[in-house]
Amino acid sequence: MELSSTQPIGIFDSGVGGLTVALAVKNLLPEEKIIYFGDTAHLPYGDKSSEIVRQYSLQIADFLLEKNCKVILIACNTASAAAYEAVRKHVGNKAIVLNVIDPASEYVANNKKFKKIGVIGTKGTILSNSYTIKIKEQSEDKEVVSLATPLLVPMIEEGFVYDDISNAIIKNYLSDDTLKNIDSLILACTHYPIIKNQIRKFYGFKTNIIDSSEVVARKLQSILLQKELLNKNNVPEHEFYVSDYTEFFKTIAEMFFDDEIILNKVDITK
Ligand code: DGL
Repeated sequence: MELSSTQPIGIFDSGVGGLTVALAVKNLLPEEKIIYFGDTAHLPYGDKSSEIVRQYSLQIADFLLEKNCKVILIACNTASAAAYEAVRKHVGNKAIVLNVIDPASEYVANNKKFKKIGVIGTKGTILSNSYTIKIKEQSEDKEVVSLATPLLVPMIEEGFVYDDISNAIIKNYLSDDTLKNIDSLILACTHYPIIKNQIRKFYGFKTNIIDSSEVVARKLQSILLQKELLNKNNVPEHEFYVSDYTEFFKTIAEMFFDDEIILNKVDITK
């Protein structure tokens, strides 16, 4: 199927977290229209089974195809781990499907300065072992260690950032022996870029912190460029959809996009 540069970019996540990816895309590709879907009715994905996350992801992919997206970007790490292959097969040539795990894995695997890489994420992402597998496939000699840090998502959702509570939780997780002597840390969860500077501070600004939202935005840019699908001279009006309406989502989205947004609730199970 022939894709066109004027088609929008679909981005989905379990909730607000993927807005970090949407923002990175907006900053790098300001002329692209974004259609964002947050599956707020099913949040969080991080401790759900991969079967159910796959089922939700396929329904969302269909919704984004109906919206005529040229790209479906799985912004959620948990969904990237559980559902990328299934979504890619399902979508076929109707859109380009991207996940957040491949670009970050490729980035660290091909960078000689990273030798011992830490990965933090939800239970779903860490149990899938996806980052370790993908990094080692490309660079066998890298040491990859990973740790599930499930308290960080609810902590951020509840607004505990840059305070004593979040500092204590971050310190507790990052002091775990598993992460000893790492030279780089992949933030393998949509929410973690929000506390990136706190994490940097914990390491005394010495460890490389890899924010997958920025890496995936750069990957998207290079794919669109290569396929001649970059949208130019466009002033986009982004669209936001959720499976359950919450004021919290609207507030955060407006904060991220620095603009008023219209938030639409849709039932994608029909
Ligand atoms: N979006 C999820 C991820 O990146 C975090 C939130 C959740 O558990 O749904 O893994």
